[in-house]
Amino acid sequence: MTTPYRRSRWRGLAAALAAATVTATLLGAAPAATDTTPTRVDNPFAGASFYVNPDYARLVEGSIARTADPAVRAKMKTVKRYPTAVWLDRIAAIHGGAANAGRRSLTHHLDLALAQKKPGRPVVATFVVYDLPGRDCAAQASSGELPLTEAGLERYRSEYIDAIAKVLAHPKYRSIRITTVIEPDGLPNLVTNLNDPECAQAQSSGIQVEAIRYALDKLHAIPNVYTYMDFAHSGWLGWDSNLEQTTRLYTDVAKGTAAGLASVDGLVTNVSNYTPLAEPFLTDPDRVVGGAPVKSSAFYGWNPQFDEADFTRAIHRALVAQGWPASTGMVIDTSRNGWGGPDRPTAESTSTTLDTYVTESKADRRAQRGLWCNVSGAGMGERPRAAPAGHPDSHLDAFLWVKPPGESDGAGEDIPNGEGKRPDPMCDPEVTPGVLPDAPLAGHWFHDQFRMLVTNAHPAIPLT
Ligand code: BGC
Repeated sequence: MTTPYRRSRWRGLAAALAAATVTATLLGAAPAATDTTPTRVDNPFAGASFYVNPDYARLVEGSIARTADPAVRAKMKTVKRYPTAVWLDRIAAIHGGAANAGRRSLTHHLDLALAQKKPGRPVVATFVVYDLPGRDCAAQASSGELPLTEAGLERYRSEYIDAIAKVLAHPKYRSIRITTVIEPDGLPNLVTNLNDPECAQAQSSGIQVEAIRYALDKLHAIPNVYTYMDFAHSGWLGWDSNLEQTTRLYTDVAKGTAAGLASVDGLVTNVSNYTPLAEPFLTDPDRVVGGAPVKSSAFYGWNPQFDEADFTRAIHRALVAQGWPASTGMVIDTSRNGWGGPDRPTAESTSTTLDTYVTESKADRRAQRGLWCNVSGAGMGERPRAAPAGHPDSHLDAFLWVKPPGESDGAGEDIPNGEGKRPDPMCDPEVTPGVLPDAPLAGHWFHDQFRMLVTNAHPAIPLT
């Protein structure tokens, strides 16, 4: 999102730096670096190369070593080179090392992003801010380390957000376009899950809203950091009433920050979910089949938003109506919403029974849209890229792979851990049919899932 006052401020600084360089050169000193001055741009992904996380590549490497089929191996080698977001899913993730399964620190990632930067081309790196006090209040799989208390909020501010902001603000990283995904599922849980006591408490205490505003304030203040607030997905918030309430909440949260609506550069949908980008054979929710509109089928339950392309368009329209700038950008996580594989329909169903028609026509092969944990049959979706064409009214800044495909959504069994994660019935195939068995904890590598996602990718992954 462009903020003109910032742009002019940095232009002024650029001119001063250029003058200083000339002076220094005339005096025989080494020229000052002038290419580190950021210009805040409308779409930070446009024209940039995307940071490729070596920690992810190493996990993929492990799966390659376990895979005999040469075609699948070749596809995995291609995926190894794809950019994925880095999740700062606990305080230890900022610092890296043994306390975070040997992963790199935030500083190390940024140093590597600089090293990957190509001359004359910006580099963009994406980090997920995911450590809300009382995190994942409606589920158990990704319960976090910080309690839903004032003390938890204080640690979120000082040990988490301040620590992240300190690293991101370092002048040596000024030339990196740093994009952040703010707190997946956080605000959406405060709209639709208030029947859950933990979410009700999260809402009534105001702690999570305060935490998110603090994150926006601190991160937006850094000129090369861009903020994208998580906005769940169409299968969760697509009903008109949910969309209305949620956009109102986001407007209220953003207006309560120091910079107001300007502290948010965009919204990101479908993080860690499986909802398709498009439903090619179900394009009209009001189309009548067997005497009733398609949206009234059991699968959609009167939700008129069938896919993320339509959903992002609807969000953008609703936010602009509430005063948000038209330049607000949308991002879709396409890491696992491809739904290729043998069951993908190749034509619209000819059935005149509504539910059969929907089941046979939809790309989303889930039995219910509410399934979110290691869903069986899923595949990788569109490759990460800037300004994807084809959905102009959706105002898409990018497709990203926010959820690194192959990292588990959660475990059904009790696996002792120091991360706060708990067994979740939605991840247990005996309780919830349609989810993969033997899943590790959320965020841990799940080889069987990775292999499935590679095999069922749509579009198909090219062979290396
Ligand atoms: C987990 C995080 C993990 C992320 C990405 C979440 O479900 O709770 O620990 O970093 O997924 O895999």
